[in-house]
Amino acid sequence: MLKRTLLSLLFPLALGKPVEGDQSQKRYAIMDNDWGNAGFVPFLLALDGGMEVLALVSDTANSWQPQTAMHALSSLEAGNLSCIPVYAGATWPLINTPHRFQAWESIHGKLPWEGAFAPENQTAEAQGNDPTSGDPNRIVKAALKEGVPKTTVNNSTSAANFMVETVHKYPGQVSIYSAGALTNVALAVRMDPNFASLAKELVIMGGYVDGNMMRATGNYLVADINSDINLMIDPEAAKIALNADFPSIIIAGNVANQVMATKEYLDEVYQVKNRYTELFHKYQSLDFPFWDETAAALMVDPSISRNHSTVYIDVDVAYGSPSYGNIQVYQKSLAPVGLRNVTYVNEIDGAKLKDMMKHAMQHPKSCSDIK
Ligand SMILES: *[C@@H]1O[C@H](CO)[C@@H](O)[C@H](O)[C@H]1NC(C)=O
Ligand SMILES: *[C@@H]1O[C@H](CO)[C@@H](O)[C@H](O)[C@H]1NC(C)=O
Ligand SMILES: *[C@@H]1O[C@H](CO)[C@@H](O)[C@H](O)[C@H]1NC(C)=O
Ligand SMILES: *[C@@H]1O[C@H](CO)[C@@H](O)[C@H](O)[C@H]1NC(C)=O
Ligand SMILES: *[C@@H]1O[C@H](CO)[C@@H](O)[C@H](O)[C@H]1NC(C)=O
Ligand SMILES: *[C@@H]1O[C@H](CO)[C@@H](O)[C@H](O)[C@H]1NC(C)=O
Repeated sequence: MLKRTLLSLLFPLALGKPVEGDQSQKRYAIMDNDWGNAGFVPFLLALDGGMEVLALVSDTANSWQPQTAMHALSSLEAGNLSCIPVYAGATWPLINTPHRFQAWESIHGKLPWEGAFAPENQTAEAQGNDPTSGDPNRIVKAALKEGVPKTTVNNSTSAANFMVETVHKYPGQVSIYSAGALTNVALAVRMDPNFASLAKELVIMGGYVDGNMMRATGNYLVADINSDINLMIDPEAAKIALNADFPSIIIAGNVANQVMATKEYLDEVYQVKNRYTELFHKYQSLDFPFWDETAAALMVDPSISRNHSTVYIDVDVAYGSPSYGNIQVYQKSLAPVGLRNVTYVNEIDGAKLKDMMKHAMQHPKSCSDIK
């Protein structure tokens, strides 16, 4: 920042414009997700917004980590973006397992979307569903509808270690984006006491509040989109990550349900034909809102937030609790000791999100643009 100020004083005409070659102005992202068939929009948004995506990282949430890493690789291949490496995250949550989760459900009720912890179903896998329960290391090729990757993960180091090393390399410049479980982020936080404070920010998708009545009175789909699988897969990791001293934490929770996919929008994006618009048109479900895209857009351009609350945050880690893995929010004067404040976004400019997504997909950056 100091360097920027000095430059601005010396070259007042350059004010407001990043100086060519000034690396201290650069924004970097490491994007951690449970990647899927049409999961590329978040990294396309980051690239389109001028961020350098240093790596994609895989985690276990909708499916097991080895499978989501395959989706990450093939999503990059689809646009000649394999110069971006993929690091494999942790396959297992810190302590949770399918058995432990299913035992919790037998007491507290079934979650409409169980992600990787749904019972194994080979019929569903043969029909193209990602693997759930069973052997976490199996790859279900039928579910890699966007293509079976030819590239492989960079297994020279772990995802958590890559995150730690990277924030030391570019202190204050690396956004950690997480739209699946927070396992890798929690591991990085525990491995290095300076990790969180050296990052620029943590931006997550997940962390719904006050969804109970909606889950009770809405149909199955409404119950589904108001249940918090990203945090519930690994509640302990979510607590570690959300209590860590990142300079800023931005939460796309309830707001992630604001902008729904529609047929009209999918058709509009597909007016320009390329591999990404084609995959988006084919595989973006019309039942779901733009969850991970909302979080990515908030990272790229926080000004799309129309309304946010600053709240102190915790994650319920009591296994015996019906809200195990869900967040609790507090105002400062009533918050228990040890919690920190976060930016909880309540509303975004939905039209702007759609414009950003459309531009990122219709004009995707490829390795020749970014290197
Ligand atoms: C990717 O590279 C291949 C071969 O070089 C080329 O044919 C294709 O048009 C490229 N695709 C994109 C999306 O840039
Ligand atoms: C397994 O998946 C198939 C195909 O989606 C579905 O019809 C069936 O009900 C599932 N079985 C169970 C036990 O959920
Ligand atoms: C894998 O990542 C390491 C850094 O973690 C890097 O030094 C190496 O060049 C990468 N390997 C490949 C094949 O890209
Ligand atoms: C890394 O991955 C490559 C190819 O996927 C494999 O041949 C190699 O054994 C792996 N190395 C380690 C240490 O797992
Ligand atoms: C901002 O969001 C909060 C929480 O949803 C709501 O109570 C408040 O009325 C909103 N403020 C404005 C100006 O829309
Ligand atoms: C959030 O917490 C930080 C660190 O304690 C503090 O500096 C900041 O003023 C707080 N923000 C708000 C809006 O309360």
